[in-house]
Parts: sequence; C-alpha cells; structure tokens
Amino acid sequence: MSNVFKPIRISDKVYWVGAIDWTIRDFHGYTTKRGSTYNAYLILADRITLIDTVKAPFKDEMLSRIACLVDPKEIDYIVSDHSEMDHSGSLPDIIREVSPEKVFASQVGAKTLKEHFAVEDEIVAVKDGEGLSLGNMNLSFMETRMLHWPDSMFSYLKEEKILFSQDAFGMHLATDERFADEIRQDVLEYEAATYYANILLPYSPLILKLLDRVASSGLDIRIVAPDHGPVWRKDLPRALGLYRIWAEQEPTDKAVVLYHTMWHSTEHMARAIEEGLLAGGARVKVMSMGSFHRSDVVYETLDAGALVVGSSTLNNNMLPAMADVLTYLKGLRPKNLIGAAFGSYGWSGEAPSQIHDMLAEMKVTPVGEPIKARYVPDRDALLKCFDLGKTMAEQLRKVAKNG
Ligand code: FEO
Repeated sequence: MSNVFKPIRISDKVYWVGAIDWTIRDFHGYTTKRGSTYNAYLILADRITLIDTVKAPFKDEMLSRIACLVDPKEIDYIVSDHSEMDHSGSLPDIIREVSPEKVFASQVGAKTLKEHFAVEDEIVAVKDGEGLSLGNMNLSFMETRMLHWPDSMFSYLKEEKILFSQDAFGMHLATDERFADEIRQDVLEYEAATYYANILLPYSPLILKLLDRVASSGLDIRIVAPDHGPVWRKDLPRALGLYRIWAEQEPTDKAVVLYHTMWHSTEHMARAIEEGLLAGGARVKVMSMGSFHRSDVVYETLDAGALVVGSSTLNNNMLPAMADVLTYLKGLRPKNLIGAAFGSYGWSGEAPSQIHDMLAEMKVTPVGEPIKARYVPDRDALLKCFDLGKTMAEQLRKVAKNG
C-alpha cells in the first residue's frame, strides 16, 4: 500500500486519518452536492487508539494516512462512536488486519455491530459516563441515543480537550481544508444547516437535552471533531448556538411556497400566494419541484414559519414529485409551522385535499381550506390565493420571533 495519503494534525497527539469522498451525491435521498468526508482520528497515546473508521471502499486511504504515523498493527484500541456503515464499513477488515487488543462501542453499539458484521468477542460495551485509560491519556464516553441512531455516543479526550462527536456538528462537505475556520462562512453554515435539516431534525427535542447536558457536564471542550466535514477549533459557542436555534425551530416570518405544476396553472396560484404573503409583510421562498431537490426544500423549511403546498391532480393523485417531497418532509418532522394546500385540476381534483391531509399528519396548523381551481385559475381563484397568502402573513406576524 502506498502512503500517498497523509494524516493531518488536529492537536498535539491527535491526527485526522479519514477519507475524502469527492464524488458522492446521494446519501439515501439527501443530495450531497459538495461530496463528503468520513473522518477517523488517531490518538497517539501510550495505548494507540483509533476513533471510528471509514466507509468500506475508503479503508486503504485511511490505512495509508495511519501508516505515515505508525504501523497500523500498533493500534491498541478502536472506539466505534457510531455503527452506521459510513463509519463502520471498514471495521471488520481493520480488525482482521490490525488485530487491536480491544474494540469499544456503546452498549447498543456493541449489539448493532454484531448485527451488521461477523464480529463477536472483539467488541467491548462501555456504559454512559465510563472512562478508558489510554495510559498517559484518558477517554470518557457519553451516550447520545437516537442522535441519530440508538448506538450513537460521544468520546471525550481529556488531555487534548477534544469531543469526538460522530455525526453531530458534522456536514457533508468534501474539502482539503480540515478546519471549519479555513472554510468560507456561508458555505459552512449552509452545509451545516442542510446536514441538520436532512439528518438530525427529527431528533431536535433530544438535541436540546443533549446541548444542556454538554453545557452542564463541566467538560472543557476546545475542539469538536465530527465524523463528517471539518473540525471545529474556533468559535465553538457559535456552532453549538446554531444547533440550539435549529433544534428549537421557533417560527419566523418566512414562508415556503412549494408546488409542482403540469400546465402552469398551479404555478400561477403559487405566484398569487407569494404576492399575498409579500403584501402581508412575510418573506417568501418559492420552490417548484421541477427545479429543486427535496433536500433543498427541507433546508428552506428549517427556518420557516409557514409551508404552503400545491400540486396539480394527475390520475386522482398529487404529482409524484410532490408525494416524494412530502413523504421525506413528514419523516423529518419539522415543527411550529402553519400551512395550506392548493392546486389546479381538470375533473377530479384530489391533490389539494391529499396535501391538506398530509400537512395535518405532519402537525402543520391549517390556515383555511384547500384552494382548488379548475383547469386554469380565473381572477377570483387568483384573488383567493392572494388573500390566503395575506392571511398567512398576518398570522406569521403574530407568532414570528423575528417579525
Ligand atoms: Fe455518518 Fe449516521 O452516519
């Protein structure tokens, strides 16, 4: 194996030894426009310890980076903070090649790894709050169940003040810069928010509790090292603060008008709603499913107070792209939204009612009944849409924290 891939120093005794995936564009439905990284970290303590591994095809890239520092066979311990396969896929091969003395995972993680791979006795389950001596350094573990898998945990390296946070505080961003402060702020915040919206949003109540727990833990955290994207070594309060804002999802004066259209009639209705919202003082993002990906819709919904959804009716149903995005959104459980449904139709017109029902299942507070327009919306139908937008803007003004 060549050692063309080099490690990057994160702190005195800790190195990034992960892999960069410049080409991935789909993460089970989440479009990763800028690729990703699978981060692994090598702690050069008395007991040499590897924190997480990488996706299976990137095993040699990781081993190449490690081999620049030590013979991989010198690794004593491996800690698996998260058993999803982008971090554990190469673990069975690494165990075979490296023969570590022990592999540690959370109690659920130990079971999950055994359910994924032919690993048995190698996995040692650690408890929440348990510590592990690396000789001259010390790790401790904090369970973060359902953030975002039942097995997930954080590891904290006391001597270097590093929190290894697995998926939390990560982002899908392939880059040769390893630190967040080396990356353009707008790119960083966009990708961090997109990651939160598409992966962590359903677990927001747990994230609020976790943020409180970390704040009251007394841990002195100087570096946050996630399993995807850059390492945070500056401005940690800002990174943690953004998570609190996204987890709270307080309503704002922003409305997302989401639609899909066959012959532009539903689009005309969407534009009339947009004008009503603007006249009422709301901010608006109009998104056609012909132009945007479902991941973009979730990103825009993260800081919205209203979700207005329209579709033409095709074969007694909403258009397929609309069913796709609503199914995705429903699973991600956005909260604190008001909403409404609309759409044009020819002879049956089921789509607006279907959307209305789906918004109700998502616990979106309805504003009025669905608006339907036959074939092409006339002046009255467009005025109804305009009035709906204006009414929604007025409601947003009452609840918006930034209004
Ligand atoms: Fe990056 Fe949940 O795995």
